[in-house]
Amino acid sequence: MAAAPDDMAELEISSLPLETRCPPSPLRHYSGFWFPEPILPGVSSVRARFSPRPSDVFLASFPKSGTTWLKALAFATVHRAEHPPRAHDHPLRRRNPHDCVNYLELTFARSADVHGDVFAGIPSPRVLATHVPYSLLPARIAAEDGSGGRIVYICRDPKDALVSLWFFTEKKHAATGAAEANAGKPPKPYTIEEALELFCDGRAIYGPQWHHVAGYWEASRRRPEKVLFLRYEEMLREPVENVRKLAEFMGCAFTDDEVATGMVKDIVELCSIDALKNLEVNKSGTQKYVKNELFFRKGVAGDWSNHMTPAMGERLDKIVEEALQGSGFAF
Ligand code: A3P
Repeated sequence: MAAAPDDMAELEISSLPLETRCPPSPLRHYSGFWFPEPILPGVSSVRARFSPRPSDVFLASFPKSGTTWLKALAFATVHRAEHPPRAHDHPLRRRNPHDCVNYLELTFARSADVHGDVFAGIPSPRVLATHVPYSLLPARIAAEDGSGGRIVYICRDPKDALVSLWFFTEKKHAATGAAEANAGKPPKPYTIEEALELFCDGRAIYGPQWHHVAGYWEASRRRPEKVLFLRYEEMLREPVENVRKLAEFMGCAFTDDEVATGMVKDIVELCSIDALKNLEVNKSGTQKYVKNELFFRKGVAGDWSNHMTPAMGERLDKIVEEALQGSGFAF
């Protein structure tokens, strides 16, 4: 696939292939992936105007793969000196993780500033997030000389990502404001069978999921100092080990003293799904079109089997396996 030019200003979004069956936003096909139409201008702006710094950390993911958790863990780890995880007024006890770590493309897409870099005023070290596939990151972020910062990717079993996405979409769709996000159209029912059909064809927000994952995996193999590849399921199994790995990669490894006094465990506890979902801000607050509570559902591995038949799961597994044949990557 040819690399996209950094300046996508000439991009004619309305001329790109359109998919309207994945609520709530219409999707447009660009450079091998399905993007939410309202965000595509933001992807273009990031490429044209965002200036990364060597100290930046970018948290990258396919949606519904544990982004919220990774945002909380990375934020709490990077800022542990000024915000100890046990502090009652810790930012994560007052703000949703998505308000602590912003998405690059979403922020650019929503900004009224159409010329500047909307992140220029944020002090280092910056922790930012993105759902943009690796092949479409600005060349300045992917720079070989390390000047563009570091990337942490979180990967999840596609079946669980699909089920999580389906639940999220259904609830978001039904929530107040979804009609606005969907250009005034009333919500229509969206079954898991429909969602699977589209997902298997790569038609999901930022899909195909397996190409999204494989792009970052390949980059992590080629440049392990630049891209850290984490798995949601392994993080559930060994959260402490994975947070230590995350800290080391981000350039702020835990000291022996911190480990001995329980700092890593405190961060894991602060960011656990049970702790976060019971905070007032996450029970009652909202993002622009989304209630904060929708970011916290079950947080387990293998829940797909409660919503899809074994045959449905096998079908998706087979499609993914065939698509990734020869890549060296397997879920
Ligand atoms: P489920 O819907 O399977 O429960 P994202 O943050 O990328 O939108 O992903 C959402 C998924 O991560 C949801 O999965 C959600 O419950 C889970 N999740 C959210 N916070 C979590 C946490 N602190 N620990 C583990 N999983 C979490």
